[in-house]
Amino acid sequence: MQSVRSFLPRLGLRPTRIILVTALLSTVLVVFAQAVLPVHAAHARPAATFTAGCISPSDCVSKMTLPEKEGQMTQVEKNAFTQSGNSISDITTYFIGSVLSGGGGGPNGAGGTATQWADMVDNFQSYALKTRLGIPLIYGADAVHGHNNVYGATLFPHNIGLGAMHDPALITQVEQVTRDEVLGTGVRWTFAPCVCTPQDIRWGRTYEGYSEVPSDNSTDGAAAIVGFQGSNGALGTSNILATAKHFIGDGHTAWGTGSPYLNEGDDQITEQQLDTIDLPPYQAAVNNKVGSVMISYSSWNGLKDHANQYLISTKLKGTGTDSYGTPNLDFQGFVVSDWQAIDQISSDYNYDVRTAINAGIDMVMVPDKYKTFISTLDTEIKAGNIPMTRIDDAVTRILTAKFAVGLFTQPYTDRSYTPNVGSAAHRAVARQAERESLVLLKNNSVLPLSKTGSYTLVVGGDHANNLGYQLGGWSITWQGGSGTTTVGTTLWQAIQQAGLSSSVKLKFVGTQTKGHYTGDVGIVAVGETPYAEGNGDTNTLALSSTDATEVSDVCSRVTKCIVVLFSGRPIIINTQLNQSSAFVAAWIGSTEGEGITDVLFGDYGFSGKLTYTWPNSVSQEPCNQNNGCTGALFSYGYGITPF
Ligand code: GLC
Repeated sequence: MQSVRSFLPRLGLRPTRIILVTALLSTVLVVFAQAVLPVHAAHARPAATFTAGCISPSDCVSKMTLPEKEGQMTQVEKNAFTQSGNSISDITTYFIGSVLSGGGGGPNGAGGTATQWADMVDNFQSYALKTRLGIPLIYGADAVHGHNNVYGATLFPHNIGLGAMHDPALITQVEQVTRDEVLGTGVRWTFAPCVCTPQDIRWGRTYEGYSEVPSDNSTDGAAAIVGFQGSNGALGTSNILATAKHFIGDGHTAWGTGSPYLNEGDDQITEQQLDTIDLPPYQAAVNNKVGSVMISYSSWNGLKDHANQYLISTKLKGTGTDSYGTPNLDFQGFVVSDWQAIDQISSDYNYDVRTAINAGIDMVMVPDKYKTFISTLDTEIKAGNIPMTRIDDAVTRILTAKFAVGLFTQPYTDRSYTPNVGSAAHRAVARQAERESLVLLKNNSVLPLSKTGSYTLVVGGDHANNLGYQLGGWSITWQGGSGTTTVGTTLWQAIQQAGLSSSVKLKFVGTQTKGHYTGDVGIVAVGETPYAEGNGDTNTLALSSTDATEVSDVCSRVTKCIVVLFSGRPIIINTQLNQSSAFVAAWIGSTEGEGITDVLFGDYGFSGKLTYTWPNSVSQEPCNQNNGCTGALFSYGYGITPF
């Protein structure tokens, strides 16, 4: 017998009504309560058509029609339903199996509160439950540093910062918090963690990787998956489905081969190099029962990963070993394509669809032209170009995940999680992660700063009081933004809240660094402005001239100068390092600026260590532990601790 709460959604009651109805059920029968309570017609499911669908993946597959199977393999971006000729009721008509929010895909444009997200997701779900078999859809989103699309959510350092913590137990805790905030919005699937192994930090997605070293990504990726899914793939309604991405070699492409982005470049490497550098984190992910794998836009020696049956159906899903004795992964979950990625296989969409599905892709992130995808898939199946065994395998894998994550028992949001999105307890975890992610690169007897001494502290730089810059990409919007884009604490706000005695004279100059002022100590916060994916590709790794000037201005006006760098990767800082008395790599991603002042003022010591080689010059790239690069500014593993 299902619990009362899990049963009620099937009556079409919106979750917001569940609490009221549950209370009423203690005194009256459901049939009487339903007669007197307003049932949301938009979500009411006529009892006659709802047959509880099917009771297992095989039972479902045995009952499903071809259109129902084709719909199950289709993932649609939420905004597509409002495009001309489309409708949200297409979810019912075409048996859509999954809906996603792309970066910034909030209920009414970017952002939106957790409650608004939950209402949105539950509304989409109500259309899926109206289908003949009532197979629930699974809603996915990129919760890649917290539930970063949601206004007010707790945001954590991006993976480059989490890697620098060298604390996998804390990564698990970070992702447990993220999991709970994702559940609070009705989303049941995150497209995380990226278990890429970036080899060239000119790549715009470097910050999505924990480390240049494969074993770090194995450890950290597995820790994240346990945080999202529970140990050994426990899943159920109190966990969410994770995604190991992007399979395989997204961070290993050769500079200049991507057009236009390195993300879509070519891995010009041997299988042995692939096995050594890029495969281990997927072995760890599969060993930890990751529920899904997303394929990479990149190619391997000229063949698109999305078209590569050997990579997907042999190396990832197969058993046995490759010619080097490396075991294939025997992955039992389902494979999802990346955003419109199958369209890049060729100029013939029919060829793209049959090639991708036959290669082993189970669900296609279309994400907009879902009717075209479904009709093309149907054509290719009926032409005998895609065997039904492949279709049934794909649908079985998808449904296995949906049963495992509890969608068939609880398709709607568990609203008990919603009030905790962005809670103080969650932010405390992010503050600890921020603290532990910081790497102290230089300290000429200036840190820790005194909270009670008598001195003038100047604070400046365009990243000192700009939450959007502090968060970087994948924050409320896909590319990130500037200013107060969500709820959080900037470095300057944290300094003001650090409990400094009045003997510490604060002077905030912000971006007005050319004024007439002096100080005993200066903190100048600079860095990269937000970017995501290809927009972050760079062949300079340079600090902006504005920021370089801010550092020069502040450091020439104070006695001891501390540079705090907010960046998604190591950048060229030789000049600024020489101008500073202390230098902190603060990465990007967290809403909790107090994590930085916790160590600047000595409440905690620095503990972070670099997981990427820090080059002296961009001409050294790719420069990492795996290609014998020498002469870097700072080596992998460097970090002054505690001061
Ligand atoms: C993007 C990214 C991928 C993300 C997906 C959905 O293009 O490559 O990491 O999960 O689309 O937003």
